[in-house]
Amino acid sequence: MAKRLLTPETYRYLGGSGVKVSNICLGAMTFGQTGLPGNCDEAASHKILDRFVELGGNFIDTANIYGRGASETIVGNWLSRQERHKIVLASKVRMQMEDDNPNSGGLSRKSIMWSVEESLKRLKTDYIDLFQIHCWDWGTPLEETLRTLDDLVRAGKVRYIGGSNVSSWQFQKIIDYNKFHGLNKWITLQTQYSLLVRDPETEFTDVCKIEGLGLLPWSPLKGGWLSGKIKKGDKAAPEGSRVAWSEAMGDKVRLQSCPKFTPYANEGSIWDLLDKMTEIGKANGKSVAQVALRWLLQKEAVSSVIIGCKTVQQLEDNMGAGAGWELSTEQMSTLDNASAVEPLQVAAMIDRVNATRHRKDWTQ
Ligand SMILES: NC(=O)c1ccc[n+]([C@@H]2O[C@H](COP(=O)([O-])OP(=O)(O)OC[C@H]3O[C@@H](n4cnc5c(N)ncnc54)[C@H](OP(=O)(O)O)[C@@H]3O)[C@@H](O)[C@H]2O)c1
Repeated sequence: MAKRLLTPETYRYLGGSGVKVSNICLGAMTFGQTGLPGNCDEAASHKILDRFVELGGNFIDTANIYGRGASETIVGNWLSRQERHKIVLASKVRMQMEDDNPNSGGLSRKSIMWSVEESLKRLKTDYIDLFQIHCWDWGTPLEETLRTLDDLVRAGKVRYIGGSNVSSWQFQKIIDYNKFHGLNKWITLQTQYSLLVRDPETEFTDVCKIEGLGLLPWSPLKGGWLSGKIKKGDKAAPEGSRVAWSEAMGDKVRLQSCPKFTPYANEGSIWDLLDKMTEIGKANGKSVAQVALRWLLQKEAVSSVIIGCKTVQQLEDNMGAGAGWELSTEQMSTLDNASAVEPLQVAAMIDRVNATRHRKDWTQ
């Protein structure tokens, strides 16, 4: 039996729930070869899943849309051979599953009830631990969606609910609606968060702290950019990488988890950031990817970082961020400064006006 990297002592609470999860969550978006950016066939995916659990991981994130069901099917086939109660399984609903059927997507009661049953069949389980909306739906009244999610918890189909890809006002509105109507509360928010995407710090961290929810950062390596595999002066991303694939696909792919080569390569600041990450990695005996993931793990309100990988080697590298070392306060500041972005005007104003005022801890 291989040595566990993540022991139960390193597990964190899953947002505002009493469930303990590994601080590294295994994202299943790369499982299945039919989706975007599907990479791993079933055998390769199962090897990654086996190794993840061996190294101490217990938290897996998928979605009905990944490979239009392929990812959930692969996870389900694996899950059916596991002790189900030891795994914390997350999935999502929202994206359209059938081209000719508008009710196979969106967040209507009809769509959610159908989707969850389909997901349960593919996942070969009778409950999902964390069921999340994949993105805001302008076409469905919020009340309809939130009451349906609450019903799913009450029916035992899902244990907890959460969401992804909502703006900060939408997020607060959801929290308030659930609270004031006595519905089951959301426990987590999945949002893109990395050294190249700092918006959650102004948009969501405070809401999560004040309301008691956990952040689950997705695309923590910005689709591979923050792994250090692309070097200054490179004319293209490494062959076979997601970034190279995405660049080659041009306008056919606009997914944020599939960043292209040219825009970043032409942007000076990314190289300064990658230089700093490399230096800090060397000082700690860690890889660039591990520095990127560790930085997130030391950010406020983060429950678990959702990694994506194509190989067992990438998985092992990424899980090495989870325990046994920390970035110093100075190293965190260096990374914060090297990745800093211009704050929103209103955030800058609030900070300036409050600069001399002691900040009250709302969580007390
Ligand atoms: N809620 C949402 O809307 C949403 C959106 C996107 C993702 N997610 C979730 O977040 C998970 C992770 O997202 P992501 O796959 O975009 O994460 P990511 O960490 O930004 O990118 C993962 C990719 O980076 C490369 N990579 C990973 N580890 C590496 C390492 N140690 N060394 C070198 N290269 C490495 C691999 O691609 P190459 O080898 O091809 O370079 C891998 O497929 C998904 O599986 C999904 O569960 C959620």
